[in-house]
Amino acid sequence: MSVYDALAPGFDRLRAFPDDVPGAIRRTVLGAIRGTGRPLLLDLGAGSGRIGAAFVAAGDRYIGADLSLGMLRVFAARCGSPHENDALLAQADGERLPFRDAAFDAVLLMQVLSAANHPRRLVAEAGRVLNASGVLIAGRTIAPEDGIDARMKRRLAEILEAMGVDARRNASADTSAHWLHLHGCEVRTVTAATWTAERTPVAFLERHAAGARFAVLPPPIKDLAMLRLRDWAAASFGSLNAVSAEPFRFDLTICRLQPGMSH
Ligand SMILES: C[S@@+](CC[C@H](N)C(=O)[O-])C[C@H]1O[C@@H](n2cnc3c(N)ncnc32)[C@H](O)[C@@H]1O
Repeated sequence: MSVYDALAPGFDRLRAFPDDVPGAIRRTVLGAIRGTGRPLLLDLGAGSGRIGAAFVAAGDRYIGADLSLGMLRVFAARCGSPHENDALLAQADGERLPFRDAAFDAVLLMQVLSAANHPRRLVAEAGRVLNASGVLIAGRTIAPEDGIDARMKRRLAEILEAMGVDARRNASADTSAHWLHLHGCEVRTVTAATWTAERTPVAFLERHAAGARFAVLPPPIKDLAMLRLRDWAAASFGSLNAVSAEPFRFDLTICRLQPGMSH
């Protein structure tokens, strides 16, 4: 069982991208892969296919792997019959992948390192299954620092800390480049997509209550923290329904293995 099994039905609605974003991410990913022909891609932590579905629809040689069967079921439902494309979905733990060494041209970790219990193990295992010219590509959505989401996230961390809950994440958990540098890769970051999205405090409250890390806290703690955050947000933003149009982007950290590094 994975905490994402329970979150799967609502994941796409709460974390939807604009329609053209997954395609833009796919194009940037393919542009980062060396060589000709049709690369074999592993999307590790593929989830509900929010991004991966663009690869499947385009007929790429694509394997989506995820710990959560619930997320993979949502992915499968959106993609139709597996016989109509070159894609495969597999339930697997990214810390112990059921694939041979050097099997893939690219491994994608899209919004996964910050969700993983042991990001470093995922990166190491991804390095094992990449071939010598392969690329490891970690992607994440970047929200504005002064936007509603970022401000509410910071406030929630303060509230939980005041309640004695150690909800701090590893300070570098969100920084894909950190894990890739640790692994000794040659790293560069590119922006695959930018867009403007409307944010409201009430939408943050709904999204965060269903977030993987928050969802596992004891119910009385969650309820009290949400109540306090709700009060703070109503006072700070004037209304829980206050709308703010904010700039977002999706960054890819592209890591090329150094010769002899993991093989
Ligand atoms: C935030 S979701 C992102 C899903 C998808 N990549 C996207 O961007 O829409 C994180 C995903 O990583 C998966 N995950 C976390 N740890 C994992 C592990 N050790 N092995 C496989 N999948 C894992 C979760 O099950 C979840 O589906």
